[in-house]
Formats: sequence, C-alpha cells, structure tokens
Amino acid sequence: MSGEHWFGAGWTEVKLNAISAYSTFFTGAIGRKFDIWYVDPFAGTGSRSSEEEVGGIFEGEPFSTIEKRYPGSAARALTVDPPFHHFRFGDTKKQHIQALEELVAFYPEKDAKVIRKDANDFVRGMFGDPFWSDPNGRGKGSRALVFLDPYGLEVKWSTLEALANCQKADVWFLANLKAAVQQLSHDHAKLDDGKRRALCEYFGTDQWEAKFYSEAPSGGGLLSFMDERKKRSASKAEIADFHRNQLEGLFKYVSPPLPLAVGSVDDYFLLYCMSNNPAPAARALIAKGANWVIQKYKQASHHKSALREGVR
Ligand SMILES: C[S@@+](CC[C@H](N)C(=O)[O-])C[C@H]1O[C@@H](n2cnc3c(N)ncnc32)[C@H](O)[C@@H]1O
Repeated sequence: MSGEHWFGAGWTEVKLNAISAYSTFFTGAIGRKFDIWYVDPFAGTGSRSSEEEVGGIFEGEPFSTIEKRYPGSAARALTVDPPFHHFRFGDTKKQHIQALEELVAFYPEKDAKVIRKDANDFVRGMFGDPFWSDPNGRGKGSRALVFLDPYGLEVKWSTLEALANCQKADVWFLANLKAAVQQLSHDHAKLDDGKRRALCEYFGTDQWEAKFYSEAPSGGGLLSFMDERKKRSASKAEIADFHRNQLEGLFKYVSPPLPLAVGSVDDYFLLYCMSNNPAPAARALIAKGANWVIQKYKQASHHKSALREGVR
C-alpha cells in the first residue's frame, strides 16, 4: 500500500477505539431502520505508522525503537460489524488519496468513495445538499456518522453549522484544545488578523476576544501609557468551557468530552459527540451510546501506554 502516514501514539488508538465502539453501537442500533453512512473528511491514508520505544527494566529487554503500522479510521470503518451501507472518505493530500483508493479497492462490493477536497468544502457541499438538508428530501431515511479528525483547528464553524442544520448526523469532533490555547497568545498585542480570523472561524463568534482578554493592572510608571496592557486572563478550562457552550448553542446534544492526554498534557484533545436530531428519543439513544463509549475509554486515555508520545 502506498503513502505511509506517520502520526499519533497510544492516545490515537484510544480515540480510534472510541470511534469504532460508537460505530458498532450506531450500526447495530439503527442499521436495519435507516440507510447509514460513514463520513470521514480527514481520513488520512487508512493506516497509521508509528515509531515506538519498547523495552526497559520492566520488560526485561534493552530499550529499542520499532516501527509499527495500525489500521486508521477508514480501514476500521470498512470492517465495522454490522456494516455501514455507504462510506465517504476525504483528504487533501495526493498520496493520502491514492492510499485511500487502494484501500477501498479491497472492498469492491461496498459503496465507498474517496474525495480529494478540503474537509470544510466536502462537508458543507455534502450536507448542504437537499438530500441531507431537506427534512422531506430523498435522504429522509438516511443517517450519518461523521468523524472530524483534524490535526489542528481546521474545522470551521460553518462546517459544524451544515452538520447541525441537516439534523441527521451524529458528529464526533476532535477539538484540539492545545492548539486553540496556543493561538490565544498571552499578550493581546500579538493577536494578528490571521489568528483573529482563524479563532473566529473556530469558535463561531468574535466574542472570545472580550471574554478572554482583560486589562492588566497598570504599574503606574511614567512610560506605562506605552505598554500594551491587555493580557489573556482566561484559563485553559475557561477556554474549553467557552467552546463547549458555543457547541451547545448549535447542537441539541453535546456529550461530555472524552479528554485525550498527550505526554504530560491531560486535556490536549477533547473528543465530543454531538447531534441535532430533533427527536428526543433519538437523542436519548445517542447519549446512551456516547456515554457508554466515554466511560469505557476515559480510563484508557490516562493509561501510561496512551500517554506516551510517538517518537515520530
Ligand atoms: C489526524 S490525520 C487523520 C487521521 C485519520 N483519521 C486516521 O485515523 O488515520 C488528519 C488528516 O487530515 C488531512 N487534512 C489536513 N487538512 C485538511 C483539510 N483542510 N481538509 C481535508 N483533509 C485535511 C491530513 O492530510 C491528514 O491526513
């Protein structure tokens, strides 16, 4: 298979195990009643390569580095049992698309398509189509599980809006809290137009700026008028809460986050399940599945094997 994709570590497996567990719940719960789609606009190559350190005193072996390859989200989705009826995989990278094409070629019997597009255009195009967006359209009997698995802050608010508006998607969204906090420089003067725009598109509002930054008390010196006084006063937890409140304004159901720790950072990523299904009974079922998954993987996400950072 072409195109190796080096990324992630133990926490990546926890994330993908959680998505696989919810997929099985989803297909088992509604697969006989609805036409069910798996949609993965950040699909990568279908596999993940990782260099890992093994050995050490507890394993009774000298330290060494080994290369391992794991199934990625696309390969896992194709083997979920009971199965999805349709698959749509996307990515922007040419080599990743080629590897995904090779993967789906192993499943000629499945309706699996690979789309080279920016994930935001892909999702807004697909779920903005009347098939999904019209409550009485041809997609009335269809439901989708959408996995948004970016590296950073690539998912734009308008993409989440398209998914919320269609009311037929269970969305698993990997929010990168570390990346959001990194964009929010401590010093207000360092927020340039590019950062501002990216953060507005991520949070779905420009109100974060007034909320997160406040005047630092003046030192009162002669040159104090020259100081840039605004500093970020919001903590990481407050930033996460703000984002979650925004998500709750868009989706009727937002799960508690499954925090994924990387190295010493406890809540590097927050994995959310969200749905805007108008039927309370359907939302209760989604919440049941999501809570089961989150409980199951909360412990695993803090196990030492999950915390380990990839060597590359
Ligand atoms: C974290 S990886 C996804 C891993 C994949 N879900 C898996 O389990 O193997 C993120 C992927 O998104 C792709 N990507 C980055 N920006 C993108 C964009 N704007 N639209 C679509 N894909 C993008 C990258 O090429 C990369 O393959």
